[in-house]
Amino acid sequence: MRNPRDFTKPLAIGAPMPPNDIAPRPSRMIHFFDPSNERMANKVPDIIKKVDVLLANLEDAIEVGNKVAAREGLVSIANSNDFGDTQFWTRVNSLDSPWVLDDFTQIVSEAGEKVDVIMVPKVEGPWDIHYVDQLLAQLEAKAGTSRSIQVHAILETALGVTNVEEICSASPRMQGISLGPADLAASRRMKTTRVGGGHPGYLVRVDPDATNPDAHRPTAQQDLWHYTMARMVDACAATGCLPYYGPFGDIGDSVACEDQFRNAFLMGCVGAWSLHPKQIDIARRVFSPPPDEVLWAKRVIDEMGDGAGTIMIDGKMQDDATVKQCHVMVNTAKLIARRDTEYAEMYAFTPQDLEG
Ligand code: GLV
Ligand code: MG
Repeated sequence: MRNPRDFTKPLAIGAPMPPNDIAPRPSRMIHFFDPSNERMANKVPDIIKKVDVLLANLEDAIEVGNKVAAREGLVSIANSNDFGDTQFWTRVNSLDSPWVLDDFTQIVSEAGEKVDVIMVPKVEGPWDIHYVDQLLAQLEAKAGTSRSIQVHAILETALGVTNVEEICSASPRMQGISLGPADLAASRRMKTTRVGGGHPGYLVRVDPDATNPDAHRPTAQQDLWHYTMARMVDACAATGCLPYYGPFGDIGDSVACEDQFRNAFLMGCVGAWSLHPKQIDIARRVFSPPPDEVLWAKRVIDEMGDGAGTIMIDGKMQDDATVKQCHVMVNTAKLIARRDTEYAEMYAFTPQDLEG
């Protein structure tokens, strides 16, 4: 436990104030790229226009021989691009690696004003976040940065899942959590080699027909990630952090990727990772509330007035709770519409609707 009053104080003398609140910003897709790859670095100005979050990856998928080049690339990309209202994040190496101290040091001292969020992999408990929190405060104080960098944890170890609520509440810097199904599967000794998504072996089967025991018995595939996703969403919602689904590895299977993203969206996640340009559009479509739902929610809000009591609309009961559900839908849509004019039009928002 930390003294909650300390949440409003910097952890190092001269460090900026920690954030009081995590402002919801559209982050439908966190687009990963390798900053050591010159071809990808050249595409950054174009990608900035297409994504809500651009993330320079320093951890897994970056070869050991490229770790320094990736960090240097990040700093140079951070300082030579105008990100506008697109967020710029990075994923540092894990806390037990030989690179991470230099990752933090160089990022804060050379790109501390440009990086919005640092994603920390393989977080196992609040002690990891306390360490990062203190270190960032020291580095920010030394560099004289004007704002405090937020922290995002990847939920990808069995111990991390066990401690997810404590991780979320460990620091006011905690921006959110992503589910990391590949490392998590390995940590739990799950017997799947897929990165996210379903598995045809994880199913339930109907009972045999007593009069015809050899008849076909239909099965239904179940969701391997449901339990973890639910824990993560509750821990985040309870502490004012934002939950995200992580990577979907089968780039060729856009249908299953969309299903996985939609499950996450319906359960309360605000976005997912995109590992390939193809997945940017999927995430944009899935994590923008469906226009027909938004129009319906607007109608319920209009007809419910102050939101008290009960009314029927098209045979459906509406009351104080349903109007709150509708506000969630409309507020999410407004957030997206302020950034994405195509969706503003589909949601039929006026410029006045989007003020404030
Ligand atoms: C992501 O980092 C994962 O391990 O799935
Ligand atoms: Mg991982």
